[in-house]
Amino acid sequence: MSLHIGSTAPDFTQDSTEGTIRFHEWLGNGWGILFSHPRDFTPVCTTELGRASSLVGEFAKRNTKLLAVSVDSVKDHKEWVKDIEETQKVKQAFPILGDADRKVSQLYDMIHPEANDTFTVRSVFFIDPKKKIRAVITYPASTGRNFVELLRVLDSLQLTDSHQVATPADWKDGEDVVIVPSITDPEEIKRKFPKGHTQLKPYLRMTPQPNK
Ligand code: BEZ
Repeated sequence: MSLHIGSTAPDFTQDSTEGTIRFHEWLGNGWGILFSHPRDFTPVCTTELGRASSLVGEFAKRNTKLLAVSVDSVKDHKEWVKDIEETQKVKQAFPILGDADRKVSQLYDMIHPEANDTFTVRSVFFIDPKKKIRAVITYPASTGRNFVELLRVLDSLQLTDSHQVATPADWKDGEDVVIVPSITDPEEIKRKFPKGHTQLKPYLRMTPQPNK
């Protein structure tokens, strides 16, 4: 099954370092990020889990839970967590799914056989409160992810859900945004963007971030 932006995130039940997780129930009414790690006791993954744990408060501010998956057993994960906490100087702050049976990795197409037919690549799925997949990022095993970028993507998704704007290249929370091209009526623009706007081209209108 291909998972696309707009697909419903498949539900599953799987054991984790924090007990059995029924995914949709565990997500509740908030956002979630499900992200895969090629395997336990590997250097890049160790740094990623430490970094994600250090930012868990920032994800919580955005009503977002983190859930990692790695194709080893929960028993192995628990041993690995000791190394993560020792080397990254942070407490593991979210569950890691055991996936020795590859159930979740296969459900989310996280194993890319042209890269490696046994281990996952580094996939990230952003899931909204309606359980829809809203963004997907895929990196190879050799490239560690930027967790500040994941926060930036969440900020964009949550902002653009509530206002008729889009976020430009390299945008960060608080910076000017783009008025969506579908709004053309000058009165509507004035009403919806009372802070004003700058028209660089008829299709390129910048406005201060509306919710700041
Ligand atoms: C790592 O996490 O360090 C890693 C995992 C698989 C292949 C290469 C690096």
